[in-house]
Amino acid sequence: MSASKASAAFDPVILERFRPRESDVFINTVPKAGTTWMQQILHQLRSGGDTTFESIYDVVPWLEFPGRQARTTDERLATLESLPCPRVFKTHLCDPPGIDIARFIVVGRDPRDCCVSGYHHLCGMTDDTLAWLGATRPDSFETYFERWLASDWEAHLRTWWSHRTSPRVLWVRFRDLKEDLPASLRQIAGFLEWRCDETTLRRAAAHASFSWMAAHRMKFTKFSRDDNPSWKPKTFIRAGRVGDHKATLSPSQASRIRDLASAHLDPACVAFLGLPTT
Ligand code: A3P
Repeated sequence: MSASKASAAFDPVILERFRPRESDVFINTVPKAGTTWMQQILHQLRSGGDTTFESIYDVVPWLEFPGRQARTTDERLATLESLPCPRVFKTHLCDPPGIDIARFIVVGRDPRDCCVSGYHHLCGMTDDTLAWLGATRPDSFETYFERWLASDWEAHLRTWWSHRTSPRVLWVRFRDLKEDLPASLRQIAGFLEWRCDETTLRRAAAHASFSWMAAHRMKFTKFSRDDNPSWKPKTFIRAGRVGDHKATLSPSQASRIRDLASAHLDPACVAFLGLPTT
């Protein structure tokens, strides 16, 4: 589910009224790059390993997402205001508030894997969530693929790549999280200047593992504690692999993603994301 500005997942009013703080952290991603994983990582590092939350969205809200409960913008803003510092938010925006004062963690993932993950995301969504979004389940991978290719994934990457040298922005790669999660946790804590002791780092690594998140998937598939899960079991915390696209994309589809990325992104960004550069 992207935060398309025309979708039910986008609340423009909250963005106008939201007041960012210096201690705020925004997780900023292309959909399916590992956003939920980073929500869990940051909440674990911040809390020393809290597992009592019922939905990750209660402790790490999605800024531009109005939620499925009938709540006014004033009520939502009051909730965001009442969160303890440092607040952490998820967003898919190219231009979120707070760009001059807050910190941003961008998760980069091979767009070919994001593409395939997005297909399973839609196929696994419950009927009532699809209806609420006004979306439909794709009738074939090919139909989905053409729609995905025309979405604005490369615009987001281009924008955030242009911020990569900012001291307020940290790019983290999905594949580096997979390869060495403890090292990535240290890097993230260092960037945020959060003092995390060894116990916190150990707990965070355990609670952000694929197996832990898969075993507690209800915490990651409901948009609030009062909500129903928006995905069928085993369709959201799904495979969690690097290179998962190989089983699904045809060589021609993979080349079209690579070509689009090469046409619109800095070659260094293309290489960083793990796409072939020739
Ligand atoms: P797959 O569908 O390829 O399995 P997002 O949160 O941005 O929507 O991204 C979801 C993707 O992140 C899914 O990818 C999901 O399985 C993967 N993911 C979530 N938690 C993970 C973890 N702890 N380890 C590895 N992958 C994880």
